Amino acid sequence: GGMNGHEHGTVHGATSTGLQPSLSCEAIIAKAGEEPVHEIQLTAAQQVTKLDNGQIEEVWAFNSLTPGPEIRVTEGERVRVVLKNTDIQEGVTVHWHGIVLPCSQDGVAGVTQEAVKPGEQFTYEFIADHPGTYWYHSHQASSVQVEKGLLGKLIIEPLTNRFEYDQEETVLIQELNGTMLMNGSTQGVDIQASPGQTLRLRMINAANETEMIRVNGATFRIIAMDGHDLHEPEMLEHHQFQVAAGQRYDLLLQMPRQGKVIVESESGLKAALGSGNDPEPRSDYTLFSWTDYGTPDPLAPVENLTFDQSHTLELGQNLFVKSINGKSFHEIPPIVVKEGQRVKLTIINEGGGDHPFHLHGHIFQVLSRNGQPLSGSPVFLDTLATQEGETYEVYVKADNPGLWMMHCHNLMHASMGMSMMFNYE
Ligand code: C2O
Ligand code: CU
Repeated sequence: GGMNGHEHGTVHGATSTGLQPSLSCEAIIAKAGEEPVHEIQLTAAQQVTKLDNGQIEEVWAFNSLTPGPEIRVTEGERVRVVLKNTDIQEGVTVHWHGIVLPCSQDGVAGVTQEAVKPGEQFTYEFIADHPGTYWYHSHQASSVQVEKGLLGKLIIEPLTNRFEYDQEETVLIQELNGTMLMNGSTQGVDIQASPGQTLRLRMINAANETEMIRVNGATFRIIAMDGHDLHEPEMLEHHQFQVAAGQRYDLLLQMPRQGKVIVESESGLKAALGSGNDPEPRSDYTLFSWTDYGTPDPLAPVENLTFDQSHTLELGQNLFVKSINGKSFHEIPPIVVKEGQRVKLTIINEGGGDHPFHLHGHIFQVLSRNGQPLSGSPVFLDTLATQEGETYEVYVKADNPGLWMMHCHNLMHASMGMSMMFNYE
């Protein structure tokens, strides 16, 4: 009982199509090992919070905070998180967005575990294999629980850095009960930085809508998307870029000799880096294009790939139902793969807004956009930004057995049906 993961997370959809998975996630756990253990406790509870503009909000928070505590671990560590639920009646889980981990630890209520009820607890354990910028959020009725505040930052620091920098900061954008916040503030954040320093800025979009981000006052490079380094990213100036819901962008900024850098979102949130004079306001930003940024990596060629399976997913809507191939979650047959298969997904945004397409437990490589192969750096993502009319092809290596969700990360859309399963036989 208790499988009320409604939009996310119920295996009922799969059952009703006669394709009940033969595999269960419970048995799939992290192997025992000698890694150093990084242990954290997350306690979910209801509370009343006053925002920095005086607004009073009823929120659901981890450890009395929203965003919850930043989890920062080192590559290779064993992460152990004890989740407790104080008083959230419908139960909570934690999903580790972007992390490739054993299926049983994926935190999807109704699929990989039962939601954790008040007074109960659940312990997650996984190895932080891949350094990068990630986040975590509840995956029980997630369209409600994420907006109420059950989310936080998750950073895996690399053992050795591919890029050098003096300092790093992380900003997370969320929509709390309708109010846009950056690191919990309605205004934004001030970040201390000295002239000449190189700063790594990790940006996480935990809201439901795409955010256009503008950087003014410094040249910068985009060094990673969804936690995966880009190959030879070139310097950008007066650029704006779109971070879709669920995505992360890492920037490397050179602080100017004098004055500030302003990193501003279209929704009005601002990260002010450094001190001194504000840069001159501008309007002439070039839109960053990630499909031809950086240079191809000779070690990651895709030209000659062959696939064991190919699927087309049309993201759109029927009346008010957000759909995949014209169907909503409970009717969509899962994609069923075998371990080791190479799978090509063609993802078409047929309308109804931006649809950031998210796959759990895997990293996929983007092959093409609107029929054009990517010409810059290889791009590895867990969340693909798609806009109306666009078509993308992506390559998924089926290398992590389990039952995995795929859904739009506009969590409202996911709850309206734009979700399906990617299952192993
Ligand atoms: Cu970030 Cu299924 O979610
Ligand atoms: Cu969508």
